[in-house]
Formats: sequence, C-alpha cells, structure tokens
Amino acid sequence: MVSARPVVTALPAYRPGRNPADLAREIGVERAVKLASNEVAFPPLPAVLEAIGATAGETNRYPDNGASVLTAALAERYGVRPAQVATGCGAVTVCQQLAQAYNDPGTSLAFAWRSFEMYPLLAQVAGARDVRVPLVPGTPGGPADTHDLDGLLAAIDGTTRLVFVCNPNNPTGTAVRRGELERFLDAVPAGTLVVLDEAYREFVTDPDVPDGLELMRGRPNVAVLRTFSKAWGLAGLRVGYLIAEDPAVAEAVRKTQVPFSVSSLAQAAAVAALASEAEVRERCAAVVAERARLTEAVRERGLPVADSQANFLWLPLGGQAVEIAAQLEARAVITRPFAGEGVRVTVGTPEEDDVFLAAIDEVLDTVSADTPWTSAAVGRPGA
Ligand SMILES: Cc1ncc(COP(=O)(O)O)c(C=O)c1O
Repeated sequence: MVSARPVVTALPAYRPGRNPADLAREIGVERAVKLASNEVAFPPLPAVLEAIGATAGETNRYPDNGASVLTAALAERYGVRPAQVATGCGAVTVCQQLAQAYNDPGTSLAFAWRSFEMYPLLAQVAGARDVRVPLVPGTPGGPADTHDLDGLLAAIDGTTRLVFVCNPNNPTGTAVRRGELERFLDAVPAGTLVVLDEAYREFVTDPDVPDGLELMRGRPNVAVLRTFSKAWGLAGLRVGYLIAEDPAVAEAVRKTQVPFSVSSLAQAAAVAALASEAEVRERCAAVVAERARLTEAVRERGLPVADSQANFLWLPLGGQAVEIAAQLEARAVITRPFAGEGVRVTVGTPEEDDVFLAAIDEVLDTVSADTPWTSAAVGRPGA
C-alpha cells in the first residue's frame, strides 16, 4: 500500500458547513437555514453577474496567470504598487502559499488559539511547528476572548518565520486595537513575517480597530490578507489576495502559486465587485445593523455573546456547544460548533436570523436552567 506522509495521514478531514438542501431533505422540511460559513446572504451583485456572463465565452482559454487586471485594480484601490499584490484561489490558498514560501521543516508558525482553523493545518503540512498562544479568556458579561499579543510576542523565537494575527478573529469576532497592535508589530523581529488576516475587515465598525494596510506601511515584515469571499460575495468563485509592504513577500507568494489558480471568471467577477464598492459598503452596513439586532436578541435570551466586529457572533457555550448546535440542526438551522468551546453563528438575513432565534428559544426550553452559560453572570431572564 502506498502511504501518505504521516503528517498528512494524521490530519483531520476539513469539515465544511453542512449543505442546507441535504439537511432539509434529511429532516423533511422545505428549507434549512445555513449560518455556518460566514458568507453574505445577498445574491451576487448585478455587475458581477454581467462580468461572469461576458467572460464565460473565454473559458476554453487559460486565465491570465498573473491576474494582471485584478492586481492593477487592487493596487489602485489600496494605493500600493502592483508588485506588492499577490492574488490566490481564496485567501486560504494564499495562507498555504505563505507557509510553503516561509516555513522549512524545523521552523515554526505562530498564531492565537482559538483562531482560523486552517492555521495549524498549514503548519503541519509544511512540516513546521504550530505554536498556539491561547486567547485571553473573556469573562461572562465582560470583555470577550481576545488576542494575547504579549503572549504571542513571547512565543516568537529564532525559528518563527510566520505569525498570523486574525483581526477580527474567527471565530470569536473580537478585534485588537491600534495601540496594542502597533506596539506588537514594532517589537516583532525583522526576520518574522506578520500576516494580518483581515478576511472580515469590511465589517469592522470600531474606529479604534486599525486598517492593517495603514499599519503595514513602513514595516517590511508585515503583510495583509483579504478575501472576496465574505463582504464582496464571491465565496463560490474563490479569490483572495495579499498586500505586502515588501514586494519580495508578494513575489514569494506568487512563486508558490499553482499556475492559473484564479480562474478567469473569478478574476472578472472580482474586478467587477471592486468597481461596485459603494453597493458592497451598503450591504456591509445592512449586515452590521443586523449584527446589532441579533446580538441584542441573543443577549435578551440570557446567552453570552461577544461584541462582534465581523459578520458572525460567537456564543461561548462551553460543553453545551455541540449539543446546542445539534438541536438547532434538528430545527433546520446550521451553525458552526467548536466542541467544548462555543458556537459561531453567521449573521444572516433578518428572516434567517428570526428562524435561528425561534429555534434557539425552543432549544433553551429543552435544556436545564443550570447549564454553565446560564450562570448568575449571564442569567437567563425567567429561566
Ligand atoms: C480568518 C479567515 N481567513 C481566511 C479565510 C479564507 O477565506 P477564502 O479562502 O474563502 O478567501 C477565512 C474563511 O473563512 C477566514 O475566516
């Protein structure tokens, strides 16, 4: 038998959010609501559909390997040179390229934990050590779990080639502020690349949460990672990008790209989406308003929920997380549980979120009032 590398054999299989049509069929309902993958619920922008249609006739040809039109559009939009930009088949592939480019076996990759679940896998596949620095735990009714930047700094040593700072953090939705992030970036050794993963940047409303592109300027060991999958509504097309202060970083990412990995449809759609930024901003504002309504509604039910700067909420339900998510699924609502930690719920449309709230009401009626998350600090009114 041919064996895969031991590190690959040991990898857990990636678990994507469940398909709502499958769930609906399984439990015999017309429609299930998917609040598991942090997509936006809006259909593709009209300009995006038009661009895809116009490009469809060219799909007998390979795409532009350098995504030059998209790269130029991103450079113009963000005030950088095209040489500072690298595009990829989703931001997650750019992360993988970064690990390939910077992590030899024996080196390490550091990040907060819990954070984006791909980070440890990237390190393991690259044969590098993954260094996880626990989030500072939140307190019920007080601040939520957030990055421990001093801890992350202390974890960096001569082997650390890459550090991911996910801001806002997936899955907690919490964000680090300008002052602490600046201090951290100034202290990181020059031989360690810090990647500010801003997949959810467009949903940030706290003015004290910095734009990574501003902090990147003048810091050659800092790069910013963003995606078209979330706010820009192109999750199904897979486009992400990196902007680096030092063009050599972008070049290293380009060199590790699988040829033609951003399809021609994806490139055209991303260019059209960028040109429709005003509509995208309106949509983000609607998501942010709905985030506030949903946060309030969840709190009214006595459940702990962190203030989120992203398009999802984090419910630290501890040991109840998996059970509650399963009960929600039985009521046709798909969320994303993290065993023993919490449940991440994407902000959907108001209608979808009402389905979630009705389901959570039913679930709360079935669970005991003395579960850990209904402790005095977060006590459920009337429970
Ligand atoms: C923090 C973070 N970074 C990167 C990604 C990858 O995004 P994509 O590969 O869809 O561009 C995600 C997706 O969920 C994410 O949550």
